[in-house]
Amino acid sequence: MNTKGTYYITTPIYYPSSNLHIGHTYCTVMADAMARFKRLSGYDVRFLTGTDEHGQKIQTLAETKGVSPQAYVDEVVDGIKKLWATMEISYDDFIRTTEPRHVERVQKIFMKMYENGDIYKGEYQGLYCTPCESFWTESQLVNGCCPDCGRPVTPAREEAYFFKLSKYADKLLELFETNPEFLQPESRRNEMTSFVKQGLDDLCISRSTFDWGIPVPIDEKHVIYVWLDALTNYITALGYPDEPELYEKYWPADVHLVGKEIVRFHSIIWPAMLMSAGLPLPKKVLGHGWLLLGGEKVSKSKAAKGADVVDPVVLIDRYGVDALKYFLLREYTFGQDGVFTNEVMLKRMNYDLANDLGNLVSRTVSMIEKYNDGVVPEATTNDVIDDDLRTIAVGAAKKVEEQMDKFAFNMALEEIWILVRRANKYIDEKAPWVLAKDPEKKPELDTVLKNLAEAIRIISILIYPFMHTTSKEIRKQMGLWYSDVVWEDAFEFEMMYGEQVKKGDPIFPRLDIEKELAELAKLGEKAAGAGSGEPESIPLELKPEIEYDDFAKIDFRVGLIEKAEKHPKADKLLVFQIKMGTERRQVISGVAEDFKPEEMVGQKVIVVANLKPRQLRGMESKGMLLFADNGKRCEIVTTVAPDGEVVS
Ligand code: ME8
Ligand code: MG
Repeated sequence: MNTKGTYYITTPIYYPSSNLHIGHTYCTVMADAMARFKRLSGYDVRFLTGTDEHGQKIQTLAETKGVSPQAYVDEVVDGIKKLWATMEISYDDFIRTTEPRHVERVQKIFMKMYENGDIYKGEYQGLYCTPCESFWTESQLVNGCCPDCGRPVTPAREEAYFFKLSKYADKLLELFETNPEFLQPESRRNEMTSFVKQGLDDLCISRSTFDWGIPVPIDEKHVIYVWLDALTNYITALGYPDEPELYEKYWPADVHLVGKEIVRFHSIIWPAMLMSAGLPLPKKVLGHGWLLLGGEKVSKSKAAKGADVVDPVVLIDRYGVDALKYFLLREYTFGQDGVFTNEVMLKRMNYDLANDLGNLVSRTVSMIEKYNDGVVPEATTNDVIDDDLRTIAVGAAKKVEEQMDKFAFNMALEEIWILVRRANKYIDEKAPWVLAKDPEKKPELDTVLKNLAEAIRIISILIYPFMHTTSKEIRKQMGLWYSDVVWEDAFEFEMMYGEQVKKGDPIFPRLDIEKELAELAKLGEKAAGAGSGEPESIPLELKPEIEYDDFAKIDFRVGLIEKAEKHPKADKLLVFQIKMGTERRQVISGVAEDFKPEEMVGQKVIVVANLKPRQLRGMESKGMLLFADNGKRCEIVTTVAPDGEVVS
C-alpha cells in the first residue's frame, strides 16, 4: 500500500535528567501527528524518539542521589516511556544512548571520522555551562551567563579531541544556499548562515573530567562528548554501520524536528559530521519555537512555577490525551514561541472541542435517533446551502495536506474547524426541528441528517492524525467504527448508507473554566512548592555513623578571627589567629579556595579546641575551625551568640 515511499521523522532525544514537561510533549506530539498523517496518506513511516543519557549533568545528579548513573536514567526513562504510552505516541523505535547497539556504533562512526583525518587531539579552553552541556565563547554569553538557560558559566580547560568542523564551513554555506529546504523556518537559516560566516571553530568532541559517556575508542581516558554521542542516534538507531538494512531503507531522514535552541547542532555540526563520515545529509531540519511560562522558556529546572501546570501527566488526568494534543497543535504557530497559561488551554478545549466538535456530533446523533430511528437516511433533495456544506467538506482534506506540508499544524486544524463550524451553522440554517414538524418536509429533513453524517464522517478522518481516539469514538457513534480510516475517503461525500448511529458519552465534557482555573492554580502551586519536579528528598552521602561518646570528647569553643593570611607554602591553606577568652592561638584550615583572608577577619567561628596540635607545612595548627559543606563549597559555621561577646 505504501505507494508514496518512505518517510523518516525524528524528535530530539531528550535528557533524562528529570521528568519531561509540556515543552517536550509539544515536540513529540507534533512529530506523532506528522507520523500518523504520513502513514494515513500512504507513506512507509519510521518515527524515532529516545533519550540522551550520558554527560556530566546526569552523572552529578546520580551522585547526589547516591545511585549509579545507569540506575538514575533507567528510572527517569521508565517514566518517559510511560508518558509516551499514555499519550499514545506512535514511535517505531526508542533509542537510548546507553544501549550497546548505540555505544558500539558511535565508536565505529568516531573511528570513521578519525580515519578520514578529521579528528585530532588538542586543548580545550572555554566557558562551560554544566546544565546545558555547552561550551560558549565570551561573545555568546548573555549578561555573562549561558544564553540558553541564564545560569552562570565556568571557565574550563582540558586536553581533548577535536573534530575539524572549520574544514566544512564552505560546504555548509553551500548547503544552506543551494538547498533552502534543508533548514527552515527561513529566519533560522539566516541565523545559521551568519553563524557559519563568522567562522567556525573546531569542535571539542571528548571530555576527560567525567566518565559517564562512551569511551573514545583510541584513548580510554576520554569519553565522547555528548553532541557526537547524541546526534549519531539518528543513524545508529537504523543499524548504521553494522546492520544497515533500516539505514538503507530510511536514511536520509525526511525531517529532524527540534527546538530552536538546538538547530545550531543539527544544521551545522550534524551535517559536517555526516560529510566527514561520507554519508548523505538529512533532507530537512525544522526548528520549532518554545513554550513560555510568563516570558521564560518552560524548562526542567523551572518546570513548576506559580499557577500554570506544565506537567503533562496532571493535564492528561484532568482533560484527557486528545484535548491536550489538540490544544498543543492548535494553539501555537510552528516556529514561533508561544505563551502557555492554564486559561488559554482551557478556553481552547472548551470552545473548540466541547462546544464546536462535541456539539456537532451529539446534536447530529440525537437528531438521527429522534427523527429517523437512528438510521442514516438518504439524501434526495438539494439546495445551495447543501452545496456549500458539501464543497467545504470535500475540499478540506486537500487544504489540510497543504498546511501539513508546511508543518502548520494549527492551520491544518483550523481548516478542519472551518468545516466543523460550517456544519454547526448548517444545522441552525436548516433548523431540522422545524422541518420535523411538517411530514411533507421529511425528504428535506433526511437530506440534512445525511449531509451532517457525511460531514462528520469526513471530520473523523481529518482529525485522525491529531486525535485518533476521538476519531474512533466519533466513528463508533456514527456507526462507522468498524471500518478503517482511509484518507482518500475524506475527498468523497456519498459514502454512508443506512448506518445505525448510537449516542455515547459527550466526546468532550464542557469545562467550568472558573472552577478549573482555581483547581489548576492549587495544583500548580503545590508542584512549584514541591521543587520543580526534581527528586524531592535525596539522602546525603555521609561518613560512617559515630557514637555519642565520640562526639562528647570534642570541646567546642567560640573564637574570634583576629587575623587571616595565606600559608606561605601551601595554596590551599589559610592561617588564622584566633582569640578565645584571653587566649590567642594559631589555627590552619584548608579553605583558601573558598574564602579570601580579608573576608574572614572579624568572623566568629566555632573551634574544636582540644584537637591535638600538628604541623602543617612547617607551621603549627592548634585546633580546628568548623566548616560545613553545602554541596558546592565550604560554608563557615558562625556562632549564634547574641551579637555580643566572644564567649569562651
Ligand atoms: O537538548 N518549549 O535535550 P532536552 C518547546 N538531549 N519545546 C521544548 C521546551 C519548551 N519550553 N523545552 C524543551 C536536548 N523542549 C538534547 C537533544 S538531540 C540529538 C539531543 C523540547 O531534554 C524541544 O524540542 O533539553 C527541545 O529541542 C528539546 O525539548 C530539548 O530537550
Ligand atoms: Mg535543553
